[in-house]
Amino acid sequence: MATLSEPVDGSFYKAADAFFAQNSSTGLTFDDVSLATLFSEILPRETNLETSLAESLRLQIPVVSADMDTVTESRMAIAMALSGGLGLIHYNMPERQQLSEVSRVKNHIHGLIQEPIKVMPDQLIGEVIELIEEKRFSFSTFPVVDEQNQLIGLLPGHVLKQRYATRKVHEAMTQREAIHTIRQSELSTDPIQHADRFFNDHIGIHKLLVVDEQDRLCGLFTLSDVERITQESRAQLKPARDSKFRLICGAAVSATRGANGDLDKDRIASHVGSLVERGVDVVAVSTAHGHTKGVGETVRLIRELFPELAIIAGNVTSGAGVEFLADCGANTVKVGQGPGSICTTRIVAGVGIPQLTALYVASKAAAKRNVKIIADGGITKSGDLVKALTLSDAVICGGLLAGCPEAPGQIMEINGKLYKQYRGMGSLAAMKAGSAARYGHSAKDTTRKMAAEGVEALKEASASLDTVLSQLVGGLQSGMGYLGASNLQQLREKARYIRVSPAGQRESSPHDVIEVKTGAGENVN
Ligand code: XMP
Repeated sequence: MATLSEPVDGSFYKAADAFFAQNSSTGLTFDDVSLATLFSEILPRETNLETSLAESLRLQIPVVSADMDTVTESRMAIAMALSGGLGLIHYNMPERQQLSEVSRVKNHIHGLIQEPIKVMPDQLIGEVIELIEEKRFSFSTFPVVDEQNQLIGLLPGHVLKQRYATRKVHEAMTQREAIHTIRQSELSTDPIQHADRFFNDHIGIHKLLVVDEQDRLCGLFTLSDVERITQESRAQLKPARDSKFRLICGAAVSATRGANGDLDKDRIASHVGSLVERGVDVVAVSTAHGHTKGVGETVRLIRELFPELAIIAGNVTSGAGVEFLADCGANTVKVGQGPGSICTTRIVAGVGIPQLTALYVASKAAAKRNVKIIADGGITKSGDLVKALTLSDAVICGGLLAGCPEAPGQIMEINGKLYKQYRGMGSLAAMKAGSAARYGHSAKDTTRKMAAEGVEALKEASASLDTVLSQLVGGLQSGMGYLGASNLQQLREKARYIRVSPAGQRESSPHDVIEVKTGAGENVN
């Protein structure tokens, strides 16, 4: 069925090839264009958002959290994978710590509290009450363990009263024989379903403890968590899992150099080898300039040593850069130099291409080499996501997610408002913490020698990741509905662009009103 009535629509609203050829002398970004709507039979909720970044790497939603030290550690990566996306664990930490962050994601059993807060039999009830107040725990039942972590009882919430403050925990606890437990080895591949069945069969029981063969405590299921999760499982965002039903996880690696300035191949090989042992699904060779000898050699080395491993590499903004990294063995290329909300690369180094033009150029090379591309940086609202996905297979978000509780870092209060830190990996502080190589510096360089390419900033603390992602994904689905695209492939095929004048841009945002409530697409951050 013809979706555009030629010639009127077609001479205004152009497909990517015609549009970008016509605008080839101007770098365009998200706000410079708008997408034409098309005849549609697709309801937003019927759209399929699945994408694949490599044969072994499928996502349920095309969103990746940035490998930045104020965005992605295990907590964010777990939340991203639970929502169907992917988290890339940053490398501004000792290698050992990055490995345990990856293990945390790969070993995460949704709904199982793997390190429950426990108490000791000789503690006073008064001390437990103080602990709850000090840490503001929202729960009040605690497993009781001995020094070997062996389960000896359960302290129920109803005995945590001031009148018992001087009594010991072991006087008030439920004894081991009366506690419901399950052996870790008995958990099936779907532990939540297992726990759900248990709670169905045991009326009035709200806790199920997990123990190992020596009766040591290894986890805890609660009825309320299990109920929330079974409700969520009917929701649209399904977790992204590997073939063994574990959450997927990525990790950033750098093109590490030795003291003599040469690539430290042994170190890169052992780092990636250890990540693979922990079950990492993809490594991202993350640098500011991916079209370089060092990044190429790093990708080649990883590809040779780990033929099956999915590799993301970048960043580039040219077709030659995409082809180069593809030829070195990358499955997916990160596109973006300078569009990020904390980036100053374009100001400091005078380089970089406005993101939409860069994506178009990269997409042509990617099609030639049969690799995928990810749009990295500059996504500030769901409309940008829709536009980015007309030319790419997924997006990377940093700033949009940095205010979430799942991002690393403390919340701070300034003039009654809550904020979280968000800094560029090319900011001085981040480079000193380890990311200097990403920008072609050495961590040992003096501050005077390093030209920062990013700023240290704050983001307003936001809602939890699943809320932020629901808004983002909701906007994407609306966009697809407007274009009649039932999946991302169709979105790419159907996109028709038009440039927007400055007046058109003003018209695109709320105007001539006094806003009392922030609108959809703007309250995602
Ligand atoms: P957003 O716009 O989502 O961008 O906050 C996140 C992306 O920005 C890149 N990045 C940087 N780019 N200097 C730069 O020029 C920096 O200090 C810097 N830190 C991060 C990175 O690609 C990230 O995913």
